[in-house]
Amino acid sequence: MLQKINHIGIAVQSLDETLPFYRDGLKMPLCGIEEVADQKVRVAMLGIGESKIELLEPTSPDSPIAKFLDKNGPGIHHIAYEVDDVAQAIEQMIAEGARMIDQVPRDGAHGTRIAFVHPKSSHGVLTELCQAGH
Ligand code: CO
Repeated sequence: MLQKINHIGIAVQSLDETLPFYRDGLKMPLCGIEEVADQKVRVAMLGIGESKIELLEPTSPDSPIAKFLDKNGPGIHHIAYEVDDVAQAIEQMIAEGARMIDQVPRDGAHGTRIAFVHPKSSHGVLTELCQAGH
């Protein structure tokens, strides 16, 4: 079902303040910056081999990322595993008894289709299933 780690999501207070470390310090290529209105975040994707780092900046105080930052400060927010077919992956997870935040796929950054597993079922690591965009 899983192909690889598609990306690791990291919550940041400010993309402008964080990007120089990844782009200039670590020399990771910036794949793009995009706003995901649904999640109230601005997202920067940086490439690392077959995977990516997804920097998440809240665009509103009621963004889920703003709430995460209030509680935990900046840091790793979630791990996204790549799947061929996210709808099928959701069905399999539910069949295995997992709780899903998303019972149906929704749009992620850069044309992906995604679904989050409920943290109660993923033992403290927020887990995203991610179908690559085309
Ligand atoms: Co993600």
